[in-house]
Amino acid sequence: ATMAEQLASQIEGLSLDEMSQRYPNCYPTLNPFDLYRGHLADVLHDVTGVEHKIIYPNLQWTSTLDKGDLILATPALRVKGKKPDELAAEWTEKFPEDALFQKPTSNKAFMSFFLKAQPTTTSVLPMIRSLGHEYGRNKFLGLRDPSDPSKGRKRIIVEFSSPNIAKPFHAGHLRSTIIGGFIANMYEAMGWDVIRMNYLGDWGKQYGLLALAFEKFGDEEALKKDPINHLFELYVRINREMSEEKEEIEKEKAAGKDVTERLANSLDEQARRYFRKMTDGDEAAVAQWKRFRDLSITRYKETYARLNIHFDEYSGESQVSEDSMEKVANEMAEKKITSESDGAMIVNFADLIPGKEGKKLEKPIVRKRDGTALYLTRDISELLNRHEKYHFDKMIYVVASQQDLHLKQLFKIIELLGYKDIAAKCEHINFGMVLGMSTRKGTVKFLNDILRDVADKMHEVMRKNEDKYSQVADPEATADTLGISSVMVQDMSGKRINNYEFNMDAMTSFEGDTGPYLQYAHARICSIERRAGLSQEELASADLSLLTEPHAINLIRLLAQYPDVVQTVHKSNEPTNILTYLFKMTHVLSGSYDHLRIVGSEKEVQKARMALYDAARIVLSNGMKLLGLTPVERM
Ligand code: ARG
Repeated sequence: ATMAEQLASQIEGLSLDEMSQRYPNCYPTLNPFDLYRGHLADVLHDVTGVEHKIIYPNLQWTSTLDKGDLILATPALRVKGKKPDELAAEWTEKFPEDALFQKPTSNKAFMSFFLKAQPTTTSVLPMIRSLGHEYGRNKFLGLRDPSDPSKGRKRIIVEFSSPNIAKPFHAGHLRSTIIGGFIANMYEAMGWDVIRMNYLGDWGKQYGLLALAFEKFGDEEALKKDPINHLFELYVRINREMSEEKEEIEKEKAAGKDVTERLANSLDEQARRYFRKMTDGDEAAVAQWKRFRDLSITRYKETYARLNIHFDEYSGESQVSEDSMEKVANEMAEKKITSESDGAMIVNFADLIPGKEGKKLEKPIVRKRDGTALYLTRDISELLNRHEKYHFDKMIYVVASQQDLHLKQLFKIIELLGYKDIAAKCEHINFGMVLGMSTRKGTVKFLNDILRDVADKMHEVMRKNEDKYSQVADPEATADTLGISSVMVQDMSGKRINNYEFNMDAMTSFEGDTGPYLQYAHARICSIERRAGLSQEELASADLSLLTEPHAINLIRLLAQYPDVVQTVHKSNEPTNILTYLFKMTHVLSGSYDHLRIVGSEKEVQKARMALYDAARIVLSNGMKLLGLTPVERM
């Protein structure tokens, strides 16, 4: 029997099956709070006469433990005839003696419910330890039909990172990578079939220019050794030459010279011609381009691996075929979505959608006068192609808020084309900017530079404690992991939409709510476990009723919340909520070490406390991994 089952057997009239059927998305064997809410709603149904289904979703969490484990705002139950304050007082009075909850307290219109210590302790800890890394995950939530698993899982495409080849990997890409990695992990934890997609910026006239630059001054060896930097250098160089050339031509023109010849041979024109060869499918041009792309992807993969990120597909602007774009272009013209303006094709939203909404969407170009497609054009085709290929139930674009308008235009065009259902499956998850992102070696260009710099800083910090440093098996690797944690935690600390200041000193500090602090909290439990040297069997047989101290009970109450925290974040898509929870939990944890000592306690007490610490380690580790961090065991 699972602990939830055992607990259920102690509570009169509680059946787990009945509970899961009665309440939507209620999984009492996976989420302690589903069990608490289910049971409490049953009891409150008898007390209030209100329907179960109305009570259940209105049992809310509290922000701090002193306000209770669950709270009910009585007006939410919509009982007529009496004032909310009176109802709260009356129901509190009527609440019967219960196996799981203490007698509630009421405060104005609110009722607070506190869990009883004993059944909580003895049910939550074994549940966490037996579920292990599954604690906080729930594969049923991703089922198309929860009552019939054979209908399969819901499929989601998470498109994130999406840097541009030969251009710097800027803060927007960094945030997209971190947040997108987290969103993908979360859907996976909820049982969805997740496709991680990287949509590279790898097409357009500027890439004709890049290929041209390689023809002129490329270096085969340098390309193979360090494609990302070599291509970037070439790109910078050719752009500089091109603008110098432009200036010269302007001067000549101003001096009255005939510049027709020069213009026809200019770098700009050569690039245009080269890109034309690429779009026309010229074999040599395409092969060369594919090489640049493949070499870059190989390097990106190495960097993503440091962040525990992999992609199922490297898509990109270059992968959108001219044919598919032509098809949509015709479709848009037929459906009168596009109109001509100065030889170009545009979508004049104001003509299509009345009022403010249409005006706000502006009038983007989808075909230039010379017939070339644009960023938006490619996105339209790509979206429809993805739907055809993957039949996704949902698709998320993790892109900076600077592109809010772009994505709104994209989704609206899909809708206007008549694919309302497809547009409804798409969501833009946006985020604010990173300010002042630079390393000690200068302004940041690539992700590797940032990670290396932060790792160096962490290495310095680690070296200061010679004793500990000597025990870390691979200090370089640990410093790398800690550096990455620093960057990621800082990034996920605020709400996504907020801008934040890239601050190397703050993020690498052990004080405050930082990555190194979380890692330290994890390494510390691991060290306590190592020193205690108790076996898993010993922990499993611990007498948990020995955990009676307030510090122990409060920690357990927090540990019980974890699966519910994950589920709320599944709705808000705000990784900061997971972080806030983990910091709250680790603060209570570190505050308990002095009160719940292992050394010097009786063996049975040791076992019980260690079981508690072990459960805390599991929750911390699960939460960190969900965020994309790698918990370290020593540092
Ligand atoms: N490569 C683009 C950029 O760097 C981001 C791509 C976002 N995704 C999309 N489907 N448009 O700005």
